[in-house]
Amino acid sequence: MIEFRGVTKQFPDGTVAVEGVDIVIPPHKTTVLVGSSGSGKTTLLRMINRMVDPTAGQVLIDGTDVATVEPVALRRGIGYVMQNSGLLPHRKVVDNVATVPLLRGTSKREARAHALELLDTVGLDRSLAEKYPAQLSGGQQQRVGVARGLAVDPNILLMDEPFGAVDPIVRAELQQELLRLQEELGKTVVFVTHDIDEAFLLGDQVVIMQQGGRISQAASPVEILANPADDFVADFVGARRGKRALHVTEVDGQRLVVDADGRPAGVLAS
Ligand SMILES: Nc1ncnc2c1ncn2[C@@H]1O[C@H](COP(=O)(O)OP(=O)(O)OP(=O)(O)O)[C@@H](O)[C@H]1O
Ligand SMILES: [Mg+2]
Repeated sequence: MIEFRGVTKQFPDGTVAVEGVDIVIPPHKTTVLVGSSGSGKTTLLRMINRMVDPTAGQVLIDGTDVATVEPVALRRGIGYVMQNSGLLPHRKVVDNVATVPLLRGTSKREARAHALELLDTVGLDRSLAEKYPAQLSGGQQQRVGVARGLAVDPNILLMDEPFGAVDPIVRAELQQELLRLQEELGKTVVFVTHDIDEAFLLGDQVVIMQQGGRISQAASPVEILANPADDFVADFVGARRGKRALHVTEVDGQRLVVDADGRPAGVLAS
């Protein structure tokens, strides 16, 4: 379990990125941080592995304040998948995946063998192992990024807009892959996005952030839709408009579900 207790981060230039954040992130589930640009998502994520330290409050992992854990030791149990995959351009795919285990003293043979297994795990053909990142498609690069995040066999996987840079079709594929993978691996995933659809698809818990790094609501997608905490949340999730503002209408004896614009979403089954 990861817990934020009264966490504030003010950067040296005076910017308050997050303020007074309390969140409980349950183990073996996916928690999605969602909010518009600058709402403090990346800052929160990076406080988990101490790439950023809070100026007030505490971040605890299984009850231990991360401030008391040496960063290198801490990151041993935490995978980090960056936006735009963050791959090293001059290293082959297999070496990108094996980078961190090699730094930690795993033998080259063992690290490479494990990296090949991880390519299988994320649905990449092993023939790609000897290529360079630039020779891969955007979606393949993102998968390599996920494989690299998994290479330390972490309990916690941090993912910062990992699918932001790919087209909608590939993005949908990667989302399904992550759902499948998570069913298999059961990691504690903390996933950042500014796409509410992605958040509702992937999140067991969805944390909605406002500008200035305040939490508006942290709950399951169903709870958020059923009971938005305030107008900001209702507006952000689109509960009152478009494809989420559904109602039932009867046509030729069939009950159809239509959205706010009258476009059909489906047929009511019972
Ligand atoms: N090193 C820094 N120094 C000063 N201000 C910073 C620093 N890093 C982030 N900020 C500011 O803190 C706020 C939150 O930034 P953060 O990167 O956490 O937002 P975000 O929600 O991840 O945004 P995006 O969706 O654009 O990635 C922003 O106002 C940003 O300008
Ligand atoms: Mg960010």
